[in-house]
Amino acid sequence: MPTTHAVRFHEFGPPEEVACFEPIEIGDPEPGEVIVRMEAAPIHPADLNRLEGRYGERPELPSIGGIEGCGLIESIGPGVADLAPGMRVALAHVTGTWCERVRVPADRLAILPPNLDPGLAASLIINPSTAWRMLHDFISLAPGEWVLLNAANSSVGRAVIEIAHHKGWRTAAIVRRPELIPELKQLGATAVLLDDDQLRGAIPEITGGEPLRLALNAVGGASALRLANALTPCGTLVTYGAMGRRPLELPNGLLIFKDLRVRGFWLTRWFRQAGAEERSAMLREITRLAATGVLRSQVAATFPLREAATALSAAASDRRPGKVLFHMASE
Ligand SMILES: NC(=O)c1ccc[n+]([C@@H]2O[C@H](COP(=O)([O-])OP(=O)(O)OC[C@H]3O[C@@H](n4cnc5c(N)ncnc54)[C@H](OP(=O)(O)O)[C@@H]3O)[C@@H](O)[C@H]2O)c1
Repeated sequence: MPTTHAVRFHEFGPPEEVACFEPIEIGDPEPGEVIVRMEAAPIHPADLNRLEGRYGERPELPSIGGIEGCGLIESIGPGVADLAPGMRVALAHVTGTWCERVRVPADRLAILPPNLDPGLAASLIINPSTAWRMLHDFISLAPGEWVLLNAANSSVGRAVIEIAHHKGWRTAAIVRRPELIPELKQLGATAVLLDDDQLRGAIPEITGGEPLRLALNAVGGASALRLANALTPCGTLVTYGAMGRRPLELPNGLLIFKDLRVRGFWLTRWFRQAGAEERSAMLREITRLAATGVLRSQVAATFPLREAATALSAAASDRRPGKVLFHMASE
C-alpha cells in the first residue's frame, strides 16, 4: 500500500503543538479517484480553527490538516475521464491537503493552466470562491454599485476587491492599518478607509451618499456594527469570518427602522448544496480570472511539511504580509 507523509493531528489544541509530521498510507486510487502529488497548500485561519477544534464541524481524529492546495496528477483510478497523469490541478472542497500525496475523488479537481504561479494555484479555490459567491448570491449589484467590506487586506477581501474591480463594482475597503491604503488602492479598491470611529462620517463623503446595499464582514464586534451603520435601509450584512473574535451586537433599531438583512455565508455549505455544473462553472470562471491576472496572490513565507510547527506559528502571527504555504516540492 503506498506510503506518504502528512501533517496530522491526533487531538485538538494549539496548532503548533498538536500537528505531527508522520507517515501515512493512502491506498491505491479506487474507481473515480486520482492520486495527486501535492505541490503546495496554504494555511488558512479555518485550518488553525480545525486544529484547535473550534471550526464549524469538528473533524474525526486523527485528521490531516489542509483544506485546499494544488499538485500534479500522479495516477488515475478506473473510470476517470478527462484527467491524465501530469495534469496540474487545484483541489476544491477537499480536506487533508497537507500531505505529499492525496487520494481524492476526480470531481473535486479543477484543471489549472500549467504556468500559474504556485502561490496563486495553491490558494485559488476557497477565498476567491467565497468572494465570488458573496458578490453574486445575496443581492444583484448594479453596474458601478458600491460594496463595503472590512478585513479588506485578507485574501478574501483582496479577492472581493479584484473581482469587483473587474466587474465594474466599486469597493469601500476597510482596513485596520493605514500602511495598507496605497497597496489596496493599487489592487483596485475604489476607496480605502480605516476601521475606526471616523468611518461613519467618511463613508458618505466617499460614496457621495449613494446607497450601500451590501457589506461583507469578516471581523465582528465594533467593526461589524460600523458596517451595519453604513448600510442603506434594507441593506444586507453578510458575515463570513470572525477574525476579531467578538460577537455581532446590533442595536434593535437597525433591524426595526432600517430593516437590515443579517445573513451568513459558509463556502462548505455552498459546495455541498451546489450542483456539479454550478460548481464547475464557478471554478472555470475563477481559474480564468487567475490565468488572466485579475486574481493575484500574496505569499508571506513557505515551509516544508516537516517544519509544520514553525509554519503554523507563522500563519497564526498578527499582521502577516500574505499567506503562509506548505511547499511539498521541497520535501
Ligand atoms: N465563511 C466562509 O466560507 C469563509 C471562506 C474563506 C474565509 N473565511 C474567513 O474569512 C476570514 C479571512 O480569511 P483569509 O484566509 O482571507 O484571511 P487571511 O488572508 O489569513 O488574512 C487575515 C485577515 O484578518 C485580519 N485580522 C486578523 N486579526 C484581526 C483582528 N483582531 N481584527 C481585525 N482584523 C483582523 C488581518 O488584518 P491585517 O491585514 O491588518 O493583518 C488580515 O487582513 C477568516 O475569518 C476566514 O475564516 C470564511
